[in-house]
Amino acid sequence: MARRITVLNQKGGVGKTTTAVNLAVALAQRGQRVLLLDLDAQRNASQSVGIIEPLTDNCTDALIFQGHFAPHKGVLVPTLDVVPASVKQGLVEMQLIGHIAAAPRKLRRALDVVAVNYDYVVADLGPTLGLTALTAVLGCPELLVPLELGHEAAVGAVTLQQWLNDVRIDHDPDVHIMGILPTFADDVATTPRDVLSLVRSSFAPGLVFNTVIHSAEIIKASFKKGTPVVLTDPRSRAAAEYQSLTQEVIDRGIH
Ligand SMILES: Nc1ncnc2c1ncn2[C@@H]1O[C@H](COP(=O)(O)OP(=O)(O)OP(=O)(O)O)[C@@H](O)[C@H]1O
Ligand SMILES: [Mg+2]
Repeated sequence: MARRITVLNQKGGVGKTTTAVNLAVALAQRGQRVLLLDLDAQRNASQSVGIIEPLTDNCTDALIFQGHFAPHKGVLVPTLDVVPASVKQGLVEMQLIGHIAAAPRKLRRALDVVAVNYDYVVADLGPTLGLTALTAVLGCPELLVPLELGHEAAVGAVTLQQWLNDVRIDHDPDVHIMGILPTFADDVATTPRDVLSLVRSSFAPGLVFNTVIHSAEIIKASFKKGTPVVLTDPRSRAAAEYQSLTQEVIDRGIH
């Protein structure tokens, strides 16, 4: 049965999509059967794996509301399937409000049916803690939280943890943080090592991954190409860091 991972942080531009896509591809490169879900109206994850055209059918909104599952198969790597975000994804939040009692569990039910076919499901969210995020984490309860290194890094995480506590109490105690990933580390030491130590000491021991993702122009360039850095520049430091994260994610599933 697939491990189900949501990449989330309500702060924008912290590396969620980059992480979701590189993780999904790196897992698939290791022969794992991976399903990538794009739950963000910006559709960046879809675009990052080369699904550029605006789509309306067979997208994550149909998966949430109708349980309709027709992924793009073998995207970039043979074992990577992708359900892209629809051009109508922006309406999903409102439609979820219309089905408030049942809606947050709809994705979970849809994934229960297909999870047997995958080793990993990786969901990418936009910068929100709304109903779409609730729907995502009930479907994919292992949370991977990219945290942009900076002076406010640990502050934003407090909001996220409060939200998570509410989700656990009101909906499902299984939803939990699988790991926190420091991103946008700077070689020129504007984010000195003590910021990283502060982040590490703000969370339970071992919760922050050993892997740190450094700022790298090559990541921006690969997004524009529609192919993630683990494929375009496998020998780069950025790719090595995402491969190292991938190994840590795999290791955290072995008990
Ligand atoms: N380590 C990095 N170094 C340099 N640029 C990066 C890095 N990680 C991500 N980026 C770039 O920063 C921008 C934001 O990254 P990304 O889209 O992954 O963030 P996000 O958290 O998904 O944003 P949003 O909240 O809008 O969904 C993108 O242009 C991406 O290519
Ligand atoms: Mg994103």
